[in-house]
Amino acid sequence: MMIIEIPASRLDEYVCIPIAFEVRTILIPDLSQSGLAGIHFHEQSVSPYTKNYDLLGSPLTWPEEFDLQNWGIFLALDGETPVGGAAVAWNTNGVNMLEGRRDLAVLWDLRVRPESRGQGLGKRLFDYAAVWSKARGCAQMKIETQNVNVAACRFYEAQGAVLGDIRRFAYQSDSRVRDEIQLNWFLAL
Ligand SMILES: CC(C)(COP(=O)(O)OP(=O)(O)OC[C@H]1O[C@@H](n2cnc3c(N)ncnc32)[C@H](O)[C@@H]1OP(=O)(O)O)[C@@H](O)C(=O)NCCC(=O)NCCS
Repeated sequence: MMIIEIPASRLDEYVCIPIAFEVRTILIPDLSQSGLAGIHFHEQSVSPYTKNYDLLGSPLTWPEEFDLQNWGIFLALDGETPVGGAAVAWNTNGVNMLEGRRDLAVLWDLRVRPESRGQGLGKRLFDYAAVWSKARGCAQMKIETQNVNVAACRFYEAQGAVLGDIRRFAYQSDSRVRDEIQLNWFLAL
């Protein structure tokens, strides 16, 4: 398996890697004294359903939405076959997630095709993105996920990232994901 950097013109190959996953459990925050005495998450089973980030916003629309000049887009290849991908946003006006900071990179997308998950590929892509971000002078890499993506939360925790933001009402304006909680992880580089 090798990881290569690709131009935005190759996003059609990138988007062929399925990002969808099965939600079987979610993380529920328990607030003690309205949060003043701490927030603890417990994992709760739900009726299984599929979550597909690409249906909420496909990588194919990135070139219309953002100036991708300073982004890193990476493809993991097994021979000729794309098996995973990652994208990092950095130093781009109008990307709120970047908080106006040049020393912050955002892991915008990370995906491993379902049949290759759990084999260390996500870790390799994550490390690649972190090295790329550090080489651009970043002190932190930020990653957004949700309480319905328990596998991703466990994965980011295992990579040494820490939970920076718990945004319980972040998606109130979007009926498709209104009940989800935004969890932003931060990796020190
Ligand atoms: C999240 C994702 C990228 C992880 O990639 P992966 O290749 O499956 O992960 P790795 O095999 O590199 O896992 C590395 C470590 O992360 C942790 N981890 C990964 N998947 C996990 C899971 N489902 N449950 C618990 N821990 C997990 C483990 O500690 C693992 O180390 P181990 O195998 O030695 O125990 C992959 O599951 C995926 O593509 N999911 C769907 C898309 C997605 O949710 N993207 C992120 C959006 S925010």
